[in-house]
Amino acid sequence: MALQAYTLSPCVLTRQGQGMKGLVLSGGAGTRLRPITYTSAKQLVPVANKPVLFFALEALVAAGITEIGIVVGDTRQEVRTAVGDGSAFGAKVTYIEQEAPLGLAHAVKISRAFLGEDDFVLYLGDNLIRDGITELVERFATAQPDALVLLASVPHPERFGVAELKDGQVVRLVEKPAVPPSNLALVGVYLFSACIFDAIAQIQPSPRGELEITDAIQQLITGGKRVEPHIITGWWKDTGRLEDMLEANRVILERLEGRIEGEIGEDVRLEGAVVVEKGATLRDCTVRGPAIIGSGTLVEHAYIGPFTSVHDRCRIVHCEVENSIVLADSELNSIGARVESSLIGRGCFVGRSTTRPRAHKIMIGDHSRVEVSD
Ligand code: DAU
Repeated sequence: MALQAYTLSPCVLTRQGQGMKGLVLSGGAGTRLRPITYTSAKQLVPVANKPVLFFALEALVAAGITEIGIVVGDTRQEVRTAVGDGSAFGAKVTYIEQEAPLGLAHAVKISRAFLGEDDFVLYLGDNLIRDGITELVERFATAQPDALVLLASVPHPERFGVAELKDGQVVRLVEKPAVPPSNLALVGVYLFSACIFDAIAQIQPSPRGELEITDAIQQLITGGKRVEPHIITGWWKDTGRLEDMLEANRVILERLEGRIEGEIGEDVRLEGAVVVEKGATLRDCTVRGPAIIGSGTLVEHAYIGPFTSVHDRCRIVHCEVENSIVLADSELNSIGARVESSLIGRGCFVGRSTTRPRAHKIMIGDHSRVEVSD
């Protein structure tokens, strides 16, 4: 018997129903969200005042997965500070250092010691799936395929890994193809058995120099393993770009439940679902929800429109803001036109010039973008 068990492949050994682990990728560069990502991990940019990464951790814990590895790169310190040991999420977090962003499959490969022979969920830390993953984890545990991939119809499949299906089965996967074989993008959540390590061992870096998880899954298919697709119909987003962040912010805020814990002064109108955190102060203003105002923030002689998240210790004075994200410690003061569809970084000041000559005076970081209305 012992000999028989020894000759079983790792794939078979994994199927004994041991607990699943989570592997969340929070390394990488985040070039499409510059300049925010020069100083901050892209996975920590908040939507509805909560870092995107936290949604991933919460989704895993909600699905019963509490042993979680987080792959970190250059922004390791910031991620560690934000997540800690995971106990705030009801999880036990292990950090895995990746020396450079050498690809998603590389990140999985270096996590072998943490994952062992267990089944696991690979969750890209910049992806947001509104309805969570509980159902998928249950499906994986019941059907026990070698891999379960999530797919979603998208308007620009060339920006993603793309799947080709035949009779409901995945027959081919290609990473960011110039001519996509379908409009079905690979969503950044994958469920794997330990078979994936053999597949990763057989692939080479792609033309962009990365070990692609898409190629590793293709390798599973080529090797005759069971790769099942699951087409998601609920909302999902890869939050890599500004427009995606703003959309994510809107979608999460849509389900916001109003809560007022801050100080509401004279002449304040609150409409719809509005959260005013403890320590925030509102005076002579209108806040039309869904919107969230962080702790220590002052909103005065101002209008905050729907789908706006203002983080902690900000000052929004004599101006109007809508459909925007304002990160912590920033000030918007006496701006003539309404600020819309904007992402303001941390510790920024945008305001009216008080000295002559009256002109736009701008100091912004590399790769910033400013659009003036007149
Ligand atoms: O969002 C879904 C897409 O994610 C899939 O459709 C693609 O098939 C898949 O390759 C991936 O594409 P991206 O180009 O968007 O991946 P990105 O480089 O943005 O990395 C995803 C996350 O993983 C991000 O949070 C950074 C992290 N990462 C990335 C690399 C390359 C790491 O932690 N280590 C890495 O080496």
